Amino acid sequence: MIDVVLGIETSCDETSAAVLVRDGPRPELASLVILSQDIHTVFGGVVPELASRAHLTAIGPVVDQALKQAGIPLDAVDAIAVTAGPGLVGSLLVGVCYAKALAAAGDKALIGVHHLEAHIFAPTIEHPDLEPPFVALIVSGGHTLLLDVPQWGRYRVLGETRDDAAGEAFDKVASMLELGYPGGPPIEHLATQGSDRFDLPRPMLGQGFDFSFSGLKTAVLHTVRGGVDLDADKADIAASFQAAVFDVLTGKTRAAVEQTGYGTVVLGGGVACSRALAMHMARHLTGLARVTVAQPRLNADNAAMIARAGWFHLDQGERSDLYLEADARMPWPGLERQPRLSSSRPRS
Ligand code: KG4
Ligand code: ZN
Repeated sequence: MIDVVLGIETSCDETSAAVLVRDGPRPELASLVILSQDIHTVFGGVVPELASRAHLTAIGPVVDQALKQAGIPLDAVDAIAVTAGPGLVGSLLVGVCYAKALAAAGDKALIGVHHLEAHIFAPTIEHPDLEPPFVALIVSGGHTLLLDVPQWGRYRVLGETRDDAAGEAFDKVASMLELGYPGGPPIEHLATQGSDRFDLPRPMLGQGFDFSFSGLKTAVLHTVRGGVDLDADKADIAASFQAAVFDVLTGKTRAAVEQTGYGTVVLGGGVACSRALAMHMARHLTGLARVTVAQPRLNADNAAMIARAGWFHLDQGERSDLYLEADARMPWPGLERQPRLSSSRPRS
């Protein structure tokens, strides 16, 4: 029986480790350490080579700290769950090699985890009763995915972005507004001081479940270059851009809820750190579905969600062997792309 899982996440620019321990039938979070790499802020984005070097320096101390905070010696760890992909290959390699070494040396179980699947598990750490079926919206720096989740381990793609991811759009618009990287938090903050007075497009709203954010990004660029006073108008541009993104995300999620008849929506990924998005979504789904979102620390990249997704797969009897590889474009196990929706599905 697996009672203690050590999670490791190094897919991008956070080095993170976490410990989950069995509490009755459920896993409970005993510790979570996240070390964010500041170095990338001066470059306006993540520099892969610098990220992997920083992971190399940090991984040992971060894992040690997570075990120490949990009060659990390495010997007591039953299994290691590690992000195997998708992500930056050099960064992934650091975590995967470290996890394999720990598993081999201590004769522990090993499980490679898909980073995006882990984002869906994040809210279950605080809301252990959360169970499918639900609609999941994963919005991160690299992905925008709307999913029908009929049960854990099965994910049907309803829609995804055709160009930029939602978080990527936030980062690019933040750069136009000279707000630094990552762009989501300063845009969310600035938007509270502005109003949605620029008439920006809501791309593909009302047209199926796919997303497109590059046209919106270009519309912001035209606005910025079109003679606005950036200092005076920055907050209104941020508010207008954020409102346009939220209208699209919310509109399509609402349509997915109406089509599936599910009563729960799960938000995940870095953009779901935005309280403004969670509130906007909850407001527009009132009476239709409950919106569940983890606290920001569990939504941004972290090892607790990796340990939690690994826990699920370990519980299913799955194991990775020591041939586990870091895979920058790792296929998502259980992901189906063909639509399977019937309007006769009962509301949960
Ligand atoms: O999931 P994540 O931490 O890393 C990836 O796997 O991509 O997502 C990072 C993304 C960045 O694009 C960042 O700007 C965005 O999440 N983000 C936000 C907020 N906080 C982070 N976007 C909008 N509002 C926020 N408050
Ligand atoms: Zn992520």
